[in-house]
Amino acid sequence: MQTVEETPQPIPAKIKGHIPKWINGNLLRNGPGKFEFGEEKFNHWFDGMALLHQFQLENGTVTYRSKFLQSSSYLTNSQHNRIVVSEFGTLAMPDPCKSVFGRFMSRFEMPRKKAGSTYNIIQVPPQKSNCSDTLEGAKVLCSITPMDKLKPSYYHSFGMSENYIIFIEQPIKLNLLQIITSKLRGKAISEGISWEPQYNTCFHVVNKHTGEVLPGQWYSKPFVTFHQINAFEDNGCVVLDLCCQDDGTTLATYKLQNLRRSGEGLDQVYDSISRAFPRRFVLPLNVNSDTPVGKNLNPLSYTLARAVKDADGKVWCTHENLHPEGFDKVGGLEFPQINYSRYNGRRYRYFYGCGFRHLVGDSLIKVDVETKSFKIWQEDGSYPSEPVFVPVPNATAEDSGVILSVVVSPTENQSAFLLVLDAETFRELGRAEVAVQMPYGFHGIFTSH
Ligand SMILES: [Fe+2]
Repeated sequence: MQTVEETPQPIPAKIKGHIPKWINGNLLRNGPGKFEFGEEKFNHWFDGMALLHQFQLENGTVTYRSKFLQSSSYLTNSQHNRIVVSEFGTLAMPDPCKSVFGRFMSRFEMPRKKAGSTYNIIQVPPQKSNCSDTLEGAKVLCSITPMDKLKPSYYHSFGMSENYIIFIEQPIKLNLLQIITSKLRGKAISEGISWEPQYNTCFHVVNKHTGEVLPGQWYSKPFVTFHQINAFEDNGCVVLDLCCQDDGTTLATYKLQNLRRSGEGLDQVYDSISRAFPRRFVLPLNVNSDTPVGKNLNPLSYTLARAVKDADGKVWCTHENLHPEGFDKVGGLEFPQINYSRYNGRRYRYFYGCGFRHLVGDSLIKVDVETKSFKIWQEDGSYPSEPVFVPVPNATAEDSGVILSVVVSPTENQSAFLLVLDAETFRELGRAEVAVQMPYGFHGIFTSH
């Protein structure tokens, strides 16, 4: 994870194989690309300054450009040539009374309760194209009360089906007293975060239209999730597919001093963390005092996930693995993506992700959740990014389209390429190479012309 230069002017990519002419649009990606200002360095991978990448595909050709997001953190740090804005894992000294959280919190009228915290889900309406305020009209849709108000959970994303939001309260705890006093104690925010598996993981379900938090209580053994695969409703249940880890110490592992180790040191870091695997949970929504205790309440024949009401009225959920036996040979699976435009919030069959045999993804995987079979793409020394599905125009099959992924090969001449796979067969159609050093990034989106 080294700092790279931006490429503000579009440069043409060298095509090998072929890029289908029907793909017209931009693959936009983000990820950290600058890890120090002057002599001062960030500590955590999530702290790096956001670098935006654009691969423009048009009629079989590809161009690339990139630019650092001109955020207030970037501009302030650049102006001072040192880190003056605290980030997740880096404490700035002295901090000019601004932080990521502070800027966001000041935007909303939060329902304030004494000495405590709530999870707020914020609804943002579509913005008018000429509007510079990207949060205009945003409002708090609902507030969820944490199990422990002084120790709310860290979260990275939430699930959404047609009518419900599923918020997962996982036992990565934010110790508010430690975080509030972190500056006084000279500690970064991330040091107030701890994995506390004595707590179970809890699912909160919210009606998306009314903001009502459903009264049911759904629990499972402790796990951690960063990314949702999909969620949909069937026969009075929410089916929720997630990438899950059994151990929540991963966040601390992604410190830059760990990622910059090499050889055996890096292997030791990777071996120390728990891998993410795709899992399915089923949450029966209509549970009341008449619901029998001790019986599996999952009516869906196509999934082995279980949900059983306990004597105290809580529903204990046990997952089904969405992968076959022996899948752990390809490592974990993260950065899940689906045919989003047609299957988000609907029953679906395929998802795509990065296989992790290292700290960053080293393969691309397509999983069939019905047969539990999978297809894989990998090449030695290549690290592919989150696979983005682009459907063929007028497609009828769920997997009729291509997968776009940016592949970095740090050991080979510092170049990168945009890989295009046939999403059905998972075979390579072509690649577009650019002689530009890119860091391993996080997420991307394709926007059509
Ligand atoms: Fe993410």
